[in-house]
Amino acid sequence: MQKFITVRHMGSYKANGSKMRPDRNNTGYPCSTSELLKAKTLEYKLKNKVEPLLKRGRPGDYEHTLRAVAYGSLLLKHEIGQRKIVIPALYLHDIGWSKVNFMDFLRSPSFATKRQCVSLADHMEYGALMAREILEEMQYDKKLINIITSIIAIHDYPEAIFSMKNSSATIITESDRLDRYGLAGRRRVNELFQFKNHNEKQCIGIDQGLRQGLDKWFRTETARNLAMKWQKKRRRI
Ligand SMILES: [Fe+2]
Ligand SMILES: [Fe+2]
Repeated sequence: MQKFITVRHMGSYKANGSKMRPDRNNTGYPCSTSELLKAKTLEYKLKNKVEPLLKRGRPGDYEHTLRAVAYGSLLLKHEIGQRKIVIPALYLHDIGWSKVNFMDFLRSPSFATKRQCVSLADHMEYGALMAREILEEMQYDKKLINIITSIIAIHDYPEAIFSMKNSSATIITESDRLDRYGLAGRRRVNELFQFKNHNEKQCIGIDQGLRQGLDKWFRTETARNLAMKWQKKRRRI
């Protein structure tokens, strides 16, 4: 199976020019050289830790995770959120797939039916437990571990995430969902779910699901604008 990790299609996208960037001191964005080094070291460790786990999960999960992290970093430049929550949670959010049998999920024909799969709920539950173990081993801040794992435990239920009213949780789910709209992520979803074998009616249903997702899966202006832009390009590919 081909791997797609490029995020080139993010291109020169900018949020609405009238919008101010969030104050990076308030978002936990690394400001000093030592903070930046600490953040980069954490990312390096997390990446190494999750790679073998994600490669045991669904095909393409590792590359999907790297793109979700890139989207998270992009959103943090324009929207309010805590980098110390968003980035680790995105690296860890799908490691639970390494522990579950996901055939029910792969065989399920639409986004709506996939939501009902046992493996979907299980990967969130296992993922939260595994993430806690990894972060505790790294001696990560206890309060942040609690927040990160509570988000991972429900990350594929956008309405539950949005009801948390936590801007970092919102960015995490949006970054994950954005990968359904970007070029590389779309190709991955097409291959993973064998959409080429779907009949016309099923393809229309998937396209409809993505269009409805624009309202259901995004809350911040930056993520919604990006998803809308990519959805418009969708038919041309
Ligand atoms: Fe997930
Ligand atoms: Fe994901």
